[in-house]
Amino acid sequence: MKKIQVNVNDRKSTINKNIYGHFAEHLGRCIYNGIYVGEDSDIPNTKGMRNDIVEALKHVKLPVLRWPGGCFADEYHWKDGIGPKENRKKMVNTHWGGVVEDNSFGTHEFMELCRQIGCEPYINGNVGSGTVQEMSEWVEYLTFDGVSPMAELRRQNGQQEPWKVKYWGVGNENWGCGGNMRPEFYADLYRQFQTYVRNYGDNKIYKIACGANAQDLNWTEQVMKIAGRHMHALTLHYYTLPTGNWFGSKGSATDFDEKMYYTTLNKTLYMDKLISDHLQIMHRYDPENRVDLIVDEWGSWYDVEPGTNPGFLYQQNTMRDAMIAALNFNIFHKYSDRIVMTNIAQTINVLQAMVLTEGEKMLLTPTYHAYDLYKDHHDATHVYSYADTAPIKNSADSPVPEVSVTASVDANGILTISLVNPSATEERPLQIEIAGLAASKISGKILSGGYKDMNTFDNANNVTVKDFNSAKATAEGVELTMPACSIITLRVEK
Ligand code: AHR
Repeated sequence: MKKIQVNVNDRKSTINKNIYGHFAEHLGRCIYNGIYVGEDSDIPNTKGMRNDIVEALKHVKLPVLRWPGGCFADEYHWKDGIGPKENRKKMVNTHWGGVVEDNSFGTHEFMELCRQIGCEPYINGNVGSGTVQEMSEWVEYLTFDGVSPMAELRRQNGQQEPWKVKYWGVGNENWGCGGNMRPEFYADLYRQFQTYVRNYGDNKIYKIACGANAQDLNWTEQVMKIAGRHMHALTLHYYTLPTGNWFGSKGSATDFDEKMYYTTLNKTLYMDKLISDHLQIMHRYDPENRVDLIVDEWGSWYDVEPGTNPGFLYQQNTMRDAMIAALNFNIFHKYSDRIVMTNIAQTINVLQAMVLTEGEKMLLTPTYHAYDLYKDHHDATHVYSYADTAPIKNSADSPVPEVSVTASVDANGILTISLVNPSATEERPLQIEIAGLAASKISGKILSGGYKDMNTFDNANNVTVKDFNSAKATAEGVELTMPACSIITLRVEK
């Protein structure tokens, strides 16, 4: 029996709901043939957005959506994507598969998508191949209410009122696909571009600077030193590759053994150290902790599904991915005083997706269900939790904890405890001691299965959230046994 402690009176920071944010790029079938099928499609849609996907994303309360990239952001010229669709430029999506980008999904469509989902837009502007004027005019087009060329153009295109846009990214991966810049050069460009990202009326922009790739601490150091006082947040990107190999095989999404399973989970846990290391550097240049950290790309990255376009990054999704998601959520909660947003890559049909589609068919992935299990943590107060566990002994010799826990209390005083048992084979009896709340009413939900279990278009509900009714209230708190490879969320009330 493993011991877990939760102390409801030891309150920490608010878990910003934007930690559960997403990312949708013009990449493969994320936008086109993914969420956006066009108004003439036979697939039920509202203004071109698939109704089934929008409903699914609303169900998990998707809070914020990053768009249009990614690498695509630094090649995107927003004026190509406005006005009558028949006049929009057709171009080549050079970075992702060399396919035709017909610009039928642009600014108005993205804002409509956010409206339908009920989420905040996070727009990533173009630094790599764009101009200061272009970025400045995009902000004006979106948010200015007075007399100006861009506000006029927006009205001509059918949108009278300005939109509200808070989150604005100034470039993406400018150390790589966003221009192969040195941090000093980017930091100076950032200072210049952000100057012309204006606040119009009561629309207050929250400026987000491009941060480091994984352990590139020097990027964080230089950008903070040179430009730290001009930003609200700096980003970090970290992907989980089972083999750790960017240039050869990254590993299969579905065909892997137990050793690879543990290796992958061990690699995803590296997120903890990365966040801690980058925060330390940020703190050196920003002792007041004014600048937030945003992990605006993360998740698993495998070889594409056999027979699919290598530039489309389409991969299946198993219980291993649900584990990756939940283990990262627990890390993000731990740093919720400094991490205000994360955006998993990517929402539909790309990398660690929430939803996969095939024609009119769609399925919800195990990752989607992990998001579903954690939604009671949105905007709740993170409270102390501790798991007295050892690393699982495994053939990969890759330490992974026997259990991972996180807890929060919501505005109604209800305690939410989420637990992850990453063991591929062993169930885990747990005794949870709860200080500060006498547990009497407990409800639970569980996601569990074999570590390779997945949903397919023929068996779309193979892995899904179920009720978990076997947690028992005790004098100290709660007792339960977690099945192997499971995630459980308990709601505990007096
Ligand atoms: O998410 C896929 C790609 O990964 C993004 O376009 C880029 O920012 C990152 O390298």
